Amino acid sequence: MRTLSNLPIRWRLTLLYGGILSFILVVFGSGVYYYFEISLQASIDGKIKSMGEVISTSLTDVRDPGLFGNFERYLENVLGRKPKGKFIQIIDSAGRIGARMNDVEAQSLSSSFNTLEQAYAGETVYETIERVKPRLRMVTIPIMDDNKKVTSIVQVGTSLEDFDETMKRLLIIMIIAIPTSIASTIIIGYGAATKALKPVEKMRRTALTISSQNLGERIDIGRRKDELGKLAQTFNEMIGRLQDAFQRINQFSSDVSHELRTPLTIIKGETEVALRKERSVDQYKSILSSHLEETDRMTRIIEDLLLLSKADKDEIRLNMETLDVKALIMDVYADMSLMAQQKGVCLVAKNVADTEMRGDELKLRRMLRNVVDNGIKYTPGDGAVEMSSTTSDGFVTIEVRDTGIGIAEEDLKYIFDRFYRADRSRRRESGSGLGLSIAKWIAEAHGGTIGVESHASSGSLFFIRLPLDGGIHET
Ligand SMILES: Nc1ncnc2c1ncn2[C@@H]1O[C@H](COP(=O)(O)OP(=O)(O)OP(=O)(O)O)[C@@H](O)[C@H]1O
Ligand SMILES: [Mg+2]
Repeated sequence: MRTLSNLPIRWRLTLLYGGILSFILVVFGSGVYYYFEISLQASIDGKIKSMGEVISTSLTDVRDPGLFGNFERYLENVLGRKPKGKFIQIIDSAGRIGARMNDVEAQSLSSSFNTLEQAYAGETVYETIERVKPRLRMVTIPIMDDNKKVTSIVQVGTSLEDFDETMKRLLIIMIIAIPTSIASTIIIGYGAATKALKPVEKMRRTALTISSQNLGERIDIGRRKDELGKLAQTFNEMIGRLQDAFQRINQFSSDVSHELRTPLTIIKGETEVALRKERSVDQYKSILSSHLEETDRMTRIIEDLLLLSKADKDEIRLNMETLDVKALIMDVYADMSLMAQQKGVCLVAKNVADTEMRGDELKLRRMLRNVVDNGIKYTPGDGAVEMSSTTSDGFVTIEVRDTGIGIAEEDLKYIFDRFYRADRSRRRESGSGLGLSIAKWIAEAHGGTIGVESHASSGSLFFIRLPLDGGIHET
């Protein structure tokens, strides 16, 4: 069994149906041969028996000497035709051969002692005499008088030459036809299996060559819609996903290095300029505070990245508690109003539903701050940012609407991606592009969602929908 499972599939398939077909053909062939033999023999037996019976009923007295004068003519008379290829003899009650007609080639024809004994006992006996060539099939019929006493015996034999010839031919046909059909089935089956499984080898070869360097490669097996076609398609889709993941990782690494390089370049440049000549204390202070700003920026990026990477690895546990949604919104409002004021943006919180929910307060506050921070950042002076909330069906929806620069349609689907910023030229004013990724993660960790509706230059609406019961974290 083990060695069988090591065989290539096409061989296993071929052997399997080759084996099944051989079995069926051999069983079916033997059945046909046996049935044919039996029915042919029965028909021969029937013929000689009826001939024997006709003779025995016509015989009144075998010892009638007139009868044996011309036995052949007598038989022709009784049977209505000349008995060709037959051996017919009549034996009297003492065992003497009374009359005989021999139209078969074999000369020494004698029944066994047993046969005669059975016939004298009143039984009709069939036998095949094998000693002679060609073989002979013979029936021995007792003739009885009114007292059921055997007066004589009629034996009718016929040559089995035709029968043997027919059976031999049938055997030859079977011996040729069965192996030929098995062999041709195996050859055609092997060819078909090889052809059907060809794409597997192609897939194996492609899989062997795929590495991180050529993830763009795909398995090409044409437009097959069968199982192998589907397998190849699944395989290609899997490579596609790997390719995406690899690209994202590469993009991410280059974004991280870029993001960290900018503040470092600024620090380095400012330091070099400062060191060129003596500076006043105020100048040094200004340079140092600029350095502090850049260092803060780097620290924030690194902390944000650390948070996201922990989130990716599922290492962050939410500190779930019952909290007041209105208080949460008002806290963020209080935190952010100074920043809004400085920018000349009007921050308002109105229509805030008074409700409680389960959640991690610090994280939820951070999420909301990130969204409100964007609202203020991307809204020019004189604009407004409005916070509101509603509850329905066990969910609270917090909305942050601004009258700012809006988001172009092509940017909308990317703004929640890490390091994505819609307006790359204004990158220093914006941020690192991690704020919304973090907000999204926090919303999802609470079993909620975050979405946006916006058009370029017509303001934006961010909506965060959270389950009041804390979602998947409550068990
Ligand atoms: N309210 C908004 N109006 C217009 N554009 C927005 C708004 N909020 C987000 N965006 C766009 O989506 C981008 C991604 O936002 P995100 O908060 O992730 O990054 P960021 O604000 O640039 O940086 P960070 O938040 O890390 O300081 C922004 O750079 C900005 O282009
Ligand atoms: Mg932001």
